Amino acid sequence: MAILPPFLEELRRRVSIFDVVGRRVRLNRRGLQATGLCPFHNEKSPSFHVYEGPDEPHYHCFGCGAHGDVITFVMETEGMQFRDAVEKLAGEAGLEIPRDNPEARERAERQDTLAGVMELSAKFFESQLGGSAGLAGLDYFRRRGLTPETMKRFRLGFAPDGFEVLKAKLAKENIPEAVSLESGMLVKHEETGRVYDRFRGRVMFPIMDAKGRVIAFGGRALGDEKPKYLNSPETPLFHKGRTLYNLNHAQKPARDKKEIIVVEGYMDVIALAENGYPQSVAPLGTALTEDQLNLLWRVAEEPLLCFDGDSAGQKAAARAATLALAHLKPGHSLRFALLQPGEDPDSLLRGIDGSAAFRSVIDRAIPLVELLWKILNQGRTLDTPERRAGLKKDTEELVRLIKNDDVRAEYRRELITWFQEGVQRPALGKRPRFERLQGLKTPSGTIVSTFEWRFLPTYMQVVGGEAARLGLADVKRLPFRTMLAVLINHPDLLHRHGEAVALIPIPDRQLDKLKEALLDLASRQPDLDVDDVRNHLVDLGFSAVIETLVRHSGNMRFALPSAGVPQAEAGLLHVMAIMREPEIEVELEMAARALKEDMSQENLDRFQAAQQQKFEVESRRRDLDLADTEHLFKS
Ligand code: UTP
Ligand code: MN
Repeated sequence: MAILPPFLEELRRRVSIFDVVGRRVRLNRRGLQATGLCPFHNEKSPSFHVYEGPDEPHYHCFGCGAHGDVITFVMETEGMQFRDAVEKLAGEAGLEIPRDNPEARERAERQDTLAGVMELSAKFFESQLGGSAGLAGLDYFRRRGLTPETMKRFRLGFAPDGFEVLKAKLAKENIPEAVSLESGMLVKHEETGRVYDRFRGRVMFPIMDAKGRVIAFGGRALGDEKPKYLNSPETPLFHKGRTLYNLNHAQKPARDKKEIIVVEGYMDVIALAENGYPQSVAPLGTALTEDQLNLLWRVAEEPLLCFDGDSAGQKAAARAATLALAHLKPGHSLRFALLQPGEDPDSLLRGIDGSAAFRSVIDRAIPLVELLWKILNQGRTLDTPERRAGLKKDTEELVRLIKNDDVRAEYRRELITWFQEGVQRPALGKRPRFERLQGLKTPSGTIVSTFEWRFLPTYMQVVGGEAARLGLADVKRLPFRTMLAVLINHPDLLHRHGEAVALIPIPDRQLDKLKEALLDLASRQPDLDVDDVRNHLVDLGFSAVIETLVRHSGNMRFALPSAGVPQAEAGLLHVMAIMREPEIEVELEMAARALKEDMSQENLDRFQAAQQQKFEVESRRRDLDLADTEHLFKS
């Protein structure tokens, strides 16, 4: 008995080839690609590649030529017949293999027929837009600023304002009425039994599946009539919760750019495509579903969800965030961008300098973990032990939704760290600024061992979008990179602050080596200009490192070569003071303890030295008032 192609398609979509291959082969994942040692021949270096994208996930060995999909992989590695492999995978995915009986065959054929009806309808609506009956529609799209190319690309159309226009067309094409009804293009009046067009007097947006086949329509009223958008009902072809508008166009650019943007409406997607963001999709007027989330993750590791800034948008963001938690996997997450209330991407893009405005929205997107933190802290005050315990409990409850053990552990660690920092700072609802660090104290009894963690959330939020674009490991390196970038671009500062810089350990070998090289150079050469430093570093093989430095500190004005020396110096001292503070706190606390235990002269000296350091750091920070620091960071 044959297994029908639609089921195999579904199976390949549902099963992750990374998961299946990963059981046999240690895979090194990079986005949608992974490599490992080929299980089909003996090798020492990995030439076995696995690809898991929305179109045809497969494996390929450049060594022995082994090639196939998730099903052949199971057949080959477990010595199974096709049918058994499919059964095994289907069982694991919780899918039932449809029997190849006349009914199933008929269903497959019916789907073909329905697809035919949808295509016919799409062509019909498109043609109407060009004719006299469709003038109102054409006028509507023009007024919204769409070009003829865009209308063509999205196959926009018009459904004339009559009850039997499409009906007549479909009848002429010999489509049985029952089929037209099943396609959702016609409806039957409950009482009178009259059959008539569903879409009347509306501009039409065809909805395609990932392969570009029309499976449904959204029709917008020309004016303020309700409903504003009328959508096709669920049909054998169209499952709203498993479809994303424009995925057919978006998947390739999204994969190339490693970015997929999710917005709320059809017009938003179209406006984005017109303005250089073809990697945009929209769910169909409902909250994001698990299936849609998985579709997105097939295309990009961190889809960016863009919502209205009003309360509905915030709720939708919170809903998506909670849904995502259960399904997080290492490397997979979400980012969130909130617009101003009342603004949508379409309106934003049509405004003055819209493209840049939208880019800045994207750049300010925050990672999922930060959104959760915001949600958790919304409207809370943490001024009593009970309220703080309440936050802790809610945090724990949210974290427990994460099914993946590794991801859960990381979330717990990060949020607890933020919590520990947060309880020191009363106004959590607002975006913390450097200023508030002043109130920070090591929670008594807690020695913070990895000192860079303590200032990260604050630092991260100040640099906002930059941090969101980088991975966590990169965020940790960001302050160090910034410091080094300043020093490279302003060698004078290297001479002036070299001693202090030498005291700062950098938790990254390459960056630490770079720091050593800089200090070494400064100690040997009293006069340095930017070119000397750069050339020297390039000679030593640091050119790639410098590249990343420049890239990652690009939105901090004081780190650029164009900054004035006073500005660069202020920024440098600022970053350094903040980097060193937790370390000094720890030292102060340890010195205090040592002194308590043993009142020796030695311990007293140590304590006083630590106090002095702390005092210096604090007065340094006081020197820089907030206005000063803010302009240092904005570009
Ligand atoms: P919006 O009301 O935000 O519409 O609905 P929009 O996309 O900004 O539309 P324009 O700019 O006024 O033309 C967002 C999405 O929600 C769905 C549609 O998919 C719409 O694109 N929706 C909205 C419906 O399905 N039905 C409705 O009545 C309204
Ligand atoms: Mn809109």
